[in-house]
Amino acid sequence: MVVRVIPVDPFDLVIFGGTGDLARRKIFPGLYRRFQAGQIPAEARIIGAARGEHDDDEFRGMIAESIAEFVPEARRDADSLGAFLQRLFYIAIDARGEQGWAQLKQTMRIDVVQAYYFSVAPALFGDIAERLTSHGIAGPEARIVVEKPFGRDLASARALNATLALHFAEGQIYRIDHYLGKETVQNLMAVRFANILFEPLWKSEYIDHVQITVAETVGVDGRGAYYDKSGAMRDMVQNHLMQLLCLIAMEPPYHFDPDAVRDEKLKVIRALDPVPSHDIVRGQYLAGSGEGGYLEHSENPQSRTESYIALKVAISNWRWKGTPFYLRTGKRLRARASEIAVTFREPPHSIFDDAEGWRENVLVIRLQPDEGMHLMVMIKEPGPGGMRLTQVPLDMSFAEALGPEAEDVPDAYERLIMDVIRGNQTLFMRGDEVEAAWAWTDPIIEGWEERSDRPQPYDAGTSGPEDALMLMHRDGRRWREIR
Ligand code: BG6
Repeated sequence: MVVRVIPVDPFDLVIFGGTGDLARRKIFPGLYRRFQAGQIPAEARIIGAARGEHDDDEFRGMIAESIAEFVPEARRDADSLGAFLQRLFYIAIDARGEQGWAQLKQTMRIDVVQAYYFSVAPALFGDIAERLTSHGIAGPEARIVVEKPFGRDLASARALNATLALHFAEGQIYRIDHYLGKETVQNLMAVRFANILFEPLWKSEYIDHVQITVAETVGVDGRGAYYDKSGAMRDMVQNHLMQLLCLIAMEPPYHFDPDAVRDEKLKVIRALDPVPSHDIVRGQYLAGSGEGGYLEHSENPQSRTESYIALKVAISNWRWKGTPFYLRTGKRLRARASEIAVTFREPPHSIFDDAEGWRENVLVIRLQPDEGMHLMVMIKEPGPGGMRLTQVPLDMSFAEALGPEAEDVPDAYERLIMDVIRGNQTLFMRGDEVEAAWAWTDPIIEGWEERSDRPQPYDAGTSGPEDALMLMHRDGRRWREIR
């Protein structure tokens, strides 16, 4: 299957923090890939902005190095790289001072799409937003893109929203959660709403429980200082896992339209029950396989920050009352594996005498790696001698089903940046959604902070702390293996 590429309109895209880590790793490599795919028109310009003094050529040299580092060799070629670099420019700008803003104003064109990517610390969002408008740089249709973390609690997220709202309308603000840009995450919506098959069963009457797992093998490594202030709850659950939960749990939107989708996600977040402390397990990894434990990366040898969290979440609405959602995510686990598993209930009555071998139907949506869907169904065990049941997967690997080109689909950042240029906010978080997510997470975090709970240690390379197993065992359920 050929991946279709629809070119976007000409644009001027400014990347604040243009020499920073995210820009080097994700933004510029992603833009290069879109350029290669023919999606970026010849008139487009990409302007790096940061404090350091560089000219365009030096900046192009830096980006060429990043692309060499972060785009696999087989996917680079000298011609397209040379042409891409010619689209890049650099302006030295002081976010908190006056340097560079007049030059930026002169550079920006008013007859093309204007987008400003704030790939900087959130403390600078307000300064940049203010200067973009007070210098008359950003036009009324301009878009701004902001990265997570969007606040660290409800109060700070509200303050950030209020600051941005002084200068930009909600329809101009693109809050990134890169999980929403992942191909398979969007497939969740296609699977649910483009098939008649699943939706009639998609409710507590037929679904026993849902497991959402985002397991990583990486540790916090060089990010200890950030992670100490964040932990798995703020870093992963408040955003990525909650977005996955919303896409699984939401009502069908009336249309695949930004506000229709985001309205439905917001309703789910608002229907989440508070989580009691006995439904939460926090863990922190120990050293293993030659790598240091969490505490060795932390700036605080007594850190109580969790690198793992598992929780049982209840949604109080008609569709989901009685169907728990079990969420878990952690670093330095056995394997990198993200998946959603929807486990169905038993049939109301078994007609088979020998029900041995019976297992629940499970729909597994594999997000990464090995993207695909597997539906576990019961069949008859082959051979004579009576009716014995066995479970088999109806397997669909997206790579196999769609062919090798499908492996070449844009990565999350590529897609999301192109959506900004197109002016499509469906895959971005709205301000009220982010606030509602914090309103749910805040009391959970405050709870363990008040009790001074320590996370449970777990060995690196395992599936996490023992107590996480108990969280499901005591409900008569089991986590799926992480692999
Ligand atoms: C980021 C988190 O948002 O997502 C990281 O800050 C995490 O801690 C990363 O490692 C995971 O993203 P992905 O795309 O590798 O699953």
